[in-house]
Amino acid sequence: MSKKRILSGMRPTGKLHIGHYVGALENWINLQDEYNNFHLIADYHVLTTGLDTNAIYDNSIEMVIDWLSCGLDPVKSPFFRQSQIKEHTELFLIFTMLITKARLERNPTVKEQVRSLHIENIIYGHLGYPVLQAADILLYKGDLVPVGEDQISHIEITREVARKFNAQYGGVFPEPDYKLTNFARLIGLDGGAKMSKSLNNTILLSDDSEEVWKKLRKAKTDPQRIRKDDPGNPDVCLVYSYQKKFNPEEVPQIEKDCRAGTIGCVDCKKKCAAKISELLDPIIDKRKYYESNLDEVKDVLLDGEKRAKAIAEATMGEVRQSMKLG
Ligand code: TRP
Ligand code: SF4
Repeated sequence: MSKKRILSGMRPTGKLHIGHYVGALENWINLQDEYNNFHLIADYHVLTTGLDTNAIYDNSIEMVIDWLSCGLDPVKSPFFRQSQIKEHTELFLIFTMLITKARLERNPTVKEQVRSLHIENIIYGHLGYPVLQAADILLYKGDLVPVGEDQISHIEITREVARKFNAQYGGVFPEPDYKLTNFARLIGLDGGAKMSKSLNNTILLSDDSEEVWKKLRKAKTDPQRIRKDDPGNPDVCLVYSYQKKFNPEEVPQIEKDCRAGTIGCVDCKKKCAAKISELLDPIIDKRKYYESNLDEVKDVLLDGEKRAKAIAEATMGEVRQSMKLG
């Protein structure tokens, strides 16, 4: 039996951070062998929240460098930009006919973005964000899509569009399932929200050990803990949430010592920073290689786009045939 297909995607916003690693990349890497993967760079989707396109290409290259440096294998799974494969927009157009405006207005991610970005008049394309995402997934007949919780609604919309198309024109598309990442997303260094570039609260995958320490040293801990030997409450501590991810072996001991007031926050942070850098140092080494071999990075994209294009064309052929569009 042939392997199932996974379509995974990210918007290119520049250098990735450890939240991307924990929330997505680590998962993608673990799935490389068991499935046929397609790694999409959603560069058109960037336009939904800002019209300035100047940084999109460079940001895409930075993202590909991070993907490669973390160990995603472009030979196994093509990397490609949405904007280079015209079939995405063609299928998107057809899909826009298969879903109502009211349904898209109910989509919680749009509502949330309108609120957080203070958008007064939402653009047509932004409302259509999940419809373009449905085209991304179904063009490759993705069976599974690895997502964080916030993207589930987009997979539901994708299923609805696939069902509608199949009922109207004949069964071309699978109804994809989502695959939730096993680790909840990381809290940002400011302790409040998620880790996100726009909030400036990230540790980048390209941060060296000095930078990691500089950032972590300032991170909030249990605010009730004033002196080093005060008993602490790790459950309210940001650093502890990082320890759980990056230093799981030491977590039981740290928890005990924190509650007993026998470990100071500075020491605890040092352990955490060391573990994060243990993960990042090899990634940084590979990053240096790719930064000085940019042609190789560009070739990865050209090759991936050629392979993705062949599949996209075949699917669009089926779509046209079932719609009797020549
Ligand atoms: N919406 C996704 C995000 O912001 C990015 C994305 C675009 C995507 N197209 C996709 C993810 C297709 C998975 C599949 O994270
Ligand atoms: Fe947080 Fe560690 Fe300080 Fe406890 S000792 S409050 S877990 S930084």
